Amino acid sequence: MASTCVVGLQWGDEAKGKIVDLLCDKHDAVVRYQGGANAGHTVVTGGVTYKLSLLPTGILRPGIDCVVGNGVVIHPPALLKEVETLANQGVEVGDRLHVSDRAHVILPYHLAEERLTEESVSAADHLGTTRRGIGPCYRDKVGRVHGIRIGDLYHPAHFREHLDRIVAYKNRMLTAMLDDFEPFDPRAVADEYLGLADRLRPFVRDTTTWLHEALGRGKRLLFEGAQGSLLDVDHGSYPYVTSSNSSAAGIAAGSGVPTRHIDRWIGVVKAYTTRVGGGPFPTEQDNEIGERIRRVGKEFGTVTGRPRRCGWFDAVAVRYSARVSGSTEIALMLLDVLSGHDEIRVAVAYEDEAGRKVTSMPGHLEDLERCRPVYETLPGWSDDLTWARSWDDLPARAQDYVLFLSSQIGLPISIVSVGPERLQSIAVRGEG
Ligand code: IMP
Repeated sequence: MASTCVVGLQWGDEAKGKIVDLLCDKHDAVVRYQGGANAGHTVVTGGVTYKLSLLPTGILRPGIDCVVGNGVVIHPPALLKEVETLANQGVEVGDRLHVSDRAHVILPYHLAEERLTEESVSAADHLGTTRRGIGPCYRDKVGRVHGIRIGDLYHPAHFREHLDRIVAYKNRMLTAMLDDFEPFDPRAVADEYLGLADRLRPFVRDTTTWLHEALGRGKRLLFEGAQGSLLDVDHGSYPYVTSSNSSAAGIAAGSGVPTRHIDRWIGVVKAYTTRVGGGPFPTEQDNEIGERIRRVGKEFGTVTGRPRRCGWFDAVAVRYSARVSGSTEIALMLLDVLSGHDEIRVAVAYEDEAGRKVTSMPGHLEDLERCRPVYETLPGWSDDLTWARSWDDLPARAQDYVLFLSSQIGLPISIVSVGPERLQSIAVRGEG
């Protein structure tokens, strides 16, 4: 066994892409198992910035195979555009990309349905999604009646017939509920998607079999989570979550690979917390502190450009998500962003309205909303950390902060990142 899992332990955007990129050399293939083009990974290498959404980060490394597993929802125009943009940046996907024939397809009516739920209901019901059609597509997947998979695109007669019925249903519903809705023409949608399917054909295969055969040949897989564990549809801050199992819990279902093949479980966290979209966020700093973190950390959504909500590190939330995702070590990202604060706070527990200590993550939205964080305060540091290349280069207060987080989470921190470049990564005490 030499396969690895890399998942975020907060509400996404933990800079997982950088860790995946760092670990690529020790693996043969990178596997996405959930989510879709709602994800955004930014990798900076050699001064060039690459933005990835549907494609696994490993695509930037020659010789690394990349799998978009059955649990991912695929918007074919978005996938093909990403392949094309990379080609323009000199990255050839060639025969390294493997797209599951069992993955579900995002169709134009999914985007309209999301507009319906995000714009036409009361503000209190908005989730603040990325508007990429993720929720409606997963809804059709589990509802079964209206689901379309990548493999259906290669059975054109069946696809056209099925799409006729689906589009008729969606048109009736959307016309009744959206004022300015232009009904879809099923034939035009089918023509467009069958054309896209032709271009996708070289990449499409049974990725479950491909992965098992690769394991049989001793290949090492790296499973790359998108979003973060606190956005997991089962284990996150429901309903303010995404529609997939974005914790490590999604790996087996979303790739067809049992997790007994994995022996390294890395949980990725930022040195603080961010969240995009709605939902409870106990340590949010809707003030100068939060603004400073946003400015220094350039905390704006990769996919939507929305400003991210920012706040202190929440050890209660991360202890919980590390358990759910089975993490055995932590990669701590963006430590450099915290330079310049007089003091730094960490939520070590919550307190409910009656002043009782809450040490585990409440399951109900209202209970979580009522929780107040109990903070420990640590002294800050003013040094620029972006130049640090080893543990000893970090000022004592930054080292103390890292060790404090480690003790609070209850796991070793094996990698500390102090900037976007590969070189700006510190292996802690020989780990990593
Ligand atoms: P959806 O995944 O587009 O349905 O959005 C559901 C929630 O997940 C919203 O709060 C989004 O902002 C959030 N979300 C989805 N993808 C990401 C991501 O890659 N990073 C951070 N938040 C995300």
